[in-house]
Amino acid sequence: MIKLENVSKKFQSGKVWINALDNVSLNIDKGELVMFKGPSGSGKSTLLNIIGCLTRVTNGSYWLDNQKVSHWPDHFLASIRTEKIGFVFQQFNLITGYSAWENVAIPLLPLGLSKKERREKALILLETFHLETRADFMAQELSGGQQQLVAIARALINEPDIILADEPLSNIDIKHAENFIQIVNQFKTQGKTIIITSHLRSKIDELADRTIYFDSGKIEPHPNFSV
Ligand SMILES: Nc1ncnc2c1ncn2[C@@H]1O[C@H](COP(=O)(O)OP(=O)(O)O)[C@@H](O)[C@H]1O
Ligand SMILES: [Mg+2]
Repeated sequence: MIKLENVSKKFQSGKVWINALDNVSLNIDKGELVMFKGPSGSGKSTLLNIIGCLTRVTNGSYWLDNQKVSHWPDHFLASIRTEKIGFVFQQFNLITGYSAWENVAIPLLPLGLSKKERREKALILLETFHLETRADFMAQELSGGQQQLVAIARALINEPDIILADEPLSNIDIKHAENFIQIVNQFKTQGKTIIITSHLRSKIDELADRTIYFDSGKIEPHPNFSV
């Protein structure tokens, strides 16, 4: 369902070009739980952003469900994100000044539902995370772990087939990390395709169907660093 062929991504920083990804090819099947591991700066987030249609390849091709999306216009990519992808950002990226439920309901905005309908859907998800009493709290009034749950609920509200989480364990405490791992296990039993980046060792490693190691923008068949 996810197919990357000879993908490169270059960033310009002043006069210097950085090869964030260097000729990466990879297939991920529906229902797989894949970990992206590797040191900081090795290209994990860049590849996750490409898979999540948040950024484009510089060279190479990306197919999603047999459609070559790598060169599609922005508004098509936005609709793919709405339909198929739930993205949990490393810094959660909640909107301050919006309540927990309003943050969860953001992906529903393009669908033309009423405010009442959006709130009802958001509340159902918040309840599954035992956060219904926080529904009307502002994003900035939530703890780090609660913010992550809201970010996960936002990623799930459109019932995506693909869930992408960038360093989900790096900004939460151990209790919430255990909670996150349980949630990932549930996604897995639901047959969702899940990709998680992490530079940390954790119990998610044991759940993964496959671990892909990155170093300097390349996939490393035999990692020579400890993770
Ligand atoms: N928007 C950007 N502009 C310039 N350089 C970037 C940008 N995003 C990432 N990079 C660079 O690309 C490389 C890979 O970054 P990243 O994918 O974030 O690595 P990781 O997630 O493995 O830590 C790094 O050298 C990083 O500095
Ligand atoms: Mg990263």
